[in-house]
Amino acid sequence: MLEELQELRKQLDAELQAITSLRELEDFRLRHLVRRGTLAQVRERFRQLPAEQKPVVGRELHALEEAIRQRYNEIRQRLETQAEEQLTVDLSLPGRRFFLGGRHPIEQVLADIVSIFTRMGFCVAEGPDIEDDEHNFTALNFPPEHPARDMQDTFFVTPDRQILLRTHTSPVQIRLMRTLPPPIRAIVPGRVYRNEEINPRSLAEFHQVEGLVVDRTTSFAELKGTLVAFVQQMYGPQTAYRFRPSFFPFTEPSAEMDIRCVLCRGEGCRVCKGSGWLEICGCGMVHPAVLRNGGLDPETYLGFAFGMGIERIAMLRLALDDIRLLYLNDLRILQQFR
Ligand code: PHE
Repeated sequence: MLEELQELRKQLDAELQAITSLRELEDFRLRHLVRRGTLAQVRERFRQLPAEQKPVVGRELHALEEAIRQRYNEIRQRLETQAEEQLTVDLSLPGRRFFLGGRHPIEQVLADIVSIFTRMGFCVAEGPDIEDDEHNFTALNFPPEHPARDMQDTFFVTPDRQILLRTHTSPVQIRLMRTLPPPIRAIVPGRVYRNEEINPRSLAEFHQVEGLVVDRTTSFAELKGTLVAFVQQMYGPQTAYRFRPSFFPFTEPSAEMDIRCVLCRGEGCRVCKGSGWLEICGCGMVHPAVLRNGGLDPETYLGFAFGMGIERIAMLRLALDDIRLLYLNDLRILQQFR
């Protein structure tokens, strides 16, 4: 049996030598060190030996057991420390970068517009995207057969064409006049919809900011002064501008405001189509019929209004030549702003 014990010791030593993980070590324990394991079986056979062999073999067996358990414990400690070290923080690793979201360019431009007008005493109002014919057209003095009511321009929600997606923010003029007692000084940012072909210059869904002032005294001069102050804060105090006569059913007189092309400074380029000027908004004195439709007496009150497209302004600021770039949600584009 002595020889057998020496063999066993070699075998167990070799197994322990080969162990590289806590799992392998556990397998070893389950095979050899548990109640019915190898060592227990050997000890059982030792008990049945004749008494005269017991002292010698017993010493050997005891030494074997001691040695194996000691090595087992050593290996277990080493492997456990290793596993712990692997779990601890490596302070030499570079930090993990995390990315802050940003505001969309349209929101940035809108925030600037809002801040300029609120400093001039305007409040911010909103109206619904889904409108009725009354607010979007009729109360704004569009004659019944006006081409702007045509299917080509308007997305209708109901077949009778009474409910529609608003084609501009001007219907909110009517809502404001019908709910707020003058004086009114409000801007109205919002989404608008037109049944238009999507191309580098136009989208079917875009944003406008409407402006409305209604008071006992106001004037076309105040309208011009307000818009000039806006342009100078938005594009710089030296920005050249001009007003051109225009037509809208809901304003009289009506005008459009242009600024010197911010890209070519008037030389003529692709963005201003060679003219050197960029149209930035429509405006005019609120038509007496519109005041009346808003529940106000045109003999007592007068007002002015303006409306501008936000995408156009964002495109100019970012020097984009395709409006669709704003809505690709491509971080390579969005991350360039501010
Ligand atoms: N609603 C007009 C448009 O969409 C702009 C405008 C607003 C013009 C207010 C005059 C007054 O083109």
